[in-house]
Amino acid sequence: MVVATAQRSPREPKYYLVKRHLLELIETLPPGSLVPTERVLTVELGTSRTTVRQALSELVGEGRLVRRQGSGTYVAEPKISWPLQMTSFTQQASANGYSVSTTLLDAARQRAGDSVAARLAIKPSAGVFCVERLRLVDETPMAVETSYLSATRFPGLIGHLRRENSLYKVLADEYGVRPVAADETIETAAASPREAELLNTDTGAPMLVLGRHSFDAAGAPIEWVRSWYRGDRYTFVARLVAPAQ
Ligand code: GLP
Repeated sequence: MVVATAQRSPREPKYYLVKRHLLELIETLPPGSLVPTERVLTVELGTSRTTVRQALSELVGEGRLVRRQGSGTYVAEPKISWPLQMTSFTQQASANGYSVSTTLLDAARQRAGDSVAARLAIKPSAGVFCVERLRLVDETPMAVETSYLSATRFPGLIGHLRRENSLYKVLADEYGVRPVAADETIETAAASPREAELLNTDTGAPMLVLGRHSFDAAGAPIEWVRSWYRGDRYTFVARLVAPAQ
């Protein structure tokens, strides 16, 4: 196919035609297959290298292709489906047959400030623990998670998290607190250099950012958490149930 002369609608950019062509090719190949190089595609498709590069980059961002430094571009493995449920990361990964590990990256006590205070229903001058953790499944970094919890309500939390990976287990065992409901938000963001390094991706790569604001049975807020996942690797699945008539 020579894209310079191929049929395309007036609103379709040239790179998109290349992308459609590559998507058709990807459909025919098993995961892990090498795709032709930029140079070969440029010649085969009769277009510019910039056009080919843009099509390839979008497919990498969408998780259809993966680039391996100094080796080439390959058809990606299927994404991992991750149900959105009122459970902990540890419970959910275990229930899906994955082994879980956690690296405590940073943990500090700080002043809540206006926005965290509003979420946790405490004063802006009150203390909160800010805990940053890298979550891994089957030894692959999956998410970077920053959690805020009231320092008054959960004294000694950081010490417990140095000994136990699951925050929800610590909350239940040490404080008798169980999150039973949460508002969960999903947004997109571009990976910062730090997130990119921790999650083995490129700065600017598309990320899915989950925000969880969880509550106990009495309706009191427990945690405010932001979790950064690689957008090219995960599909979040929520079961929606129609309200009772
Ligand atoms: C998920 C949620 C977080 C929650 C965490 C607890 O990742 N998005 O809001 O803090 O689970 O998981 P764990 O008990 O494994 O630390």
